Amino acid sequence: MEKRESFSSKVGIVLATAGSAVGLGNLWAFPYRAGQNGGGTFVLIYIICVIAIGVPAMISEFIIGKNSNATGAINAFGEIEEKNNQKKSWFKLGGIVGIISSFLILSFYAVIAGWAVDYFLKGIFGGYGSFDSTTSAQYFETLIMSIPRGTIYQIIIMAATIFVVSMGVKEGIEKISKIMMPLLFLILLILVGYGFVTGAFLESVKYLFKPTLNLGEGNNIAKVAISAMGQAFMSLSLGLTCIITYGSYVDKNDDVVKISKQVAIADTMVALLAGLAIFPIVFANGLEAGQGPGLVFISLPIAFANMPLGSIIGAMFFLLIIIAALTSSISLLENNVAILVGTGKLTRGKATIIAGAIISVVGFFTQYGVGFSLPILNFTGQTTFLDQLDKLTIIYLIPISAFICVLFVGYRANYKLIEAEFKNKKFAKYFYTYLRYVVPIFITVIFVSELFNNIFA
Ligand code: TRP
Repeated sequence: MEKRESFSSKVGIVLATAGSAVGLGNLWAFPYRAGQNGGGTFVLIYIICVIAIGVPAMISEFIIGKNSNATGAINAFGEIEEKNNQKKSWFKLGGIVGIISSFLILSFYAVIAGWAVDYFLKGIFGGYGSFDSTTSAQYFETLIMSIPRGTIYQIIIMAATIFVVSMGVKEGIEKISKIMMPLLFLILLILVGYGFVTGAFLESVKYLFKPTLNLGEGNNIAKVAISAMGQAFMSLSLGLTCIITYGSYVDKNDDVVKISKQVAIADTMVALLAGLAIFPIVFANGLEAGQGPGLVFISLPIAFANMPLGSIIGAMFFLLIIIAALTSSISLLENNVAILVGTGKLTRGKATIIAGAIISVVGFFTQYGVGFSLPILNFTGQTTFLDQLDKLTIIYLIPISAFICVLFVGYRANYKLIEAEFKNKKFAKYFYTYLRYVVPIFITVIFVSELFNNIFA
């Protein structure tokens, strides 16, 4: 069967996948998590997780996608089993979990990206003029509690996402990634340059790259590792079948091992550069590195208010976040749209609007101002819908789906699929063994410690 959609170039595949990977995870979550978890130690463990778990898991998702017929990530499992003369099995659960989580993640991802739109506009019109530590926190509180503002920004992000996805894989996703990703790198380099010239650059390099045993109060190495693995999955877009979906648009001859390595390198570089853009400003302005999720939205604007060219640098910084978030939300929506189009009953245009609209409605309820939460999700220990979904998807569902994908390629799919991806056949064997016996154990150990930390602690 012919694939229904495909990317048109290798560069396009790498940029679109890197676009999916580079997002709020890199620019918002990575710096604050590094700040909360002792800087260098977190960064080191994070890089180990990317190499030891992330890249093999990404290769697995790509292999599943590449060998399917591009009718969506849930069908992919069964299609591969069928070609292998196997009965369809429970493995497609990996796809179902992934699709559900990508649906849920996009609903609140667009809300958070929407906050960046507000801060971007603020930089352009008027600047961060009077922000100090009290007023900046107040401004943020007011913003996230405001239903009208939140809704408008969320709709802006969703509308842009819907527009691009409705244009299709080649004409929409690939084209926009080819424009946005270079632009993103350029803005990021300018911001790092600014930190280099005006900020506490050396201190930041030391902070990010020199591991220490001082992990912060009440923290321990296990918690740092859990946070680092979760961050690696999220940042590389794993566990939501997005990579399966994008993988289904690559050509037989495309080298998905190489693509995975390139994407992992690009994604890690952006996270590290984001650290090198943010921490020089944080340290030079005497702000707190370990302050948590408010690092980007509350702390940085205080610095933007007080530094030369602050509103321009601030606007650029939030534009960077918006661009990065858009290429990620596009992959999240595409993941859902591919399923609907794959049923053969809907055109891409209709599927995009339907999926986009439902996700937006769910997303509406994730706004803090709406004050909604689901009692059934109380086990996550969170009290607002956004935090409940965040915990449910990122801490529980992503590792489960990623785990099933790894098991599928390691135990269910034909070894030939792996062998075909490696020129060095000996290396293919090593990879196969590693994927079967090491990666699942890594994921299980960290997942179980997560459970202990979250539910039983
Ligand atoms: N990787 C993106 C980020 O860092 C978010 C994202 C997009 C994602 N698609 C995903 C996360 C699939 C997990 C799975 O912000």
